[in-house]
Amino acid sequence: MTEQSRELIEQAKQARENAYARYSGYKVGAALLTASGEIFTGCNVENAAYGETICAERVAVTKAVSEGVNDFVAMAIVTSNAGSPCGSCRQVLNEFAPELVLYLSDGEQLQGTYKVSELLPLSFDPSHLD
Ligand code: THU
Repeated sequence: MTEQSRELIEQAKQARENAYARYSGYKVGAALLTASGEIFTGCNVENAAYGETICAERVAVTKAVSEGVNDFVAMAIVTSNAGSPCGSCRQVLNEFAPELVLYLSDGEQLQGTYKVSELLPLSFDPSHLD
């Protein structure tokens, strides 16, 4: 593990402690590194109306963007099985940083390193809006 992945995984692991996963029991933590070296964390927040649940990754992204920061470099995601991000999170990450590096971890080991663009090939390109 690099120093960067180690630090991000540690922060994602800590954020995972705050997961509100009352319905699924599946806790997720994310830590998002920006170009300036700032780290924004997130956890999943579930709801009795299941569809209102928000994923850990999108919590971290929205925290950062709402603070005026959107130059993202890397993100660690920690789950019990080093799971990869859902389609909605891939889409949202792709909006800001297709080249963002994702570290997938179970909180102990780094299980995989991917770029967002690798996980969302042929992504939607609304260039007709330009
Ligand atoms: N979840 C995430 O936080 N991130 C993902 O990329 C996939 C799923 C959450 C949503 C829900 O709280 C739980 O994991 C089970 O789907």
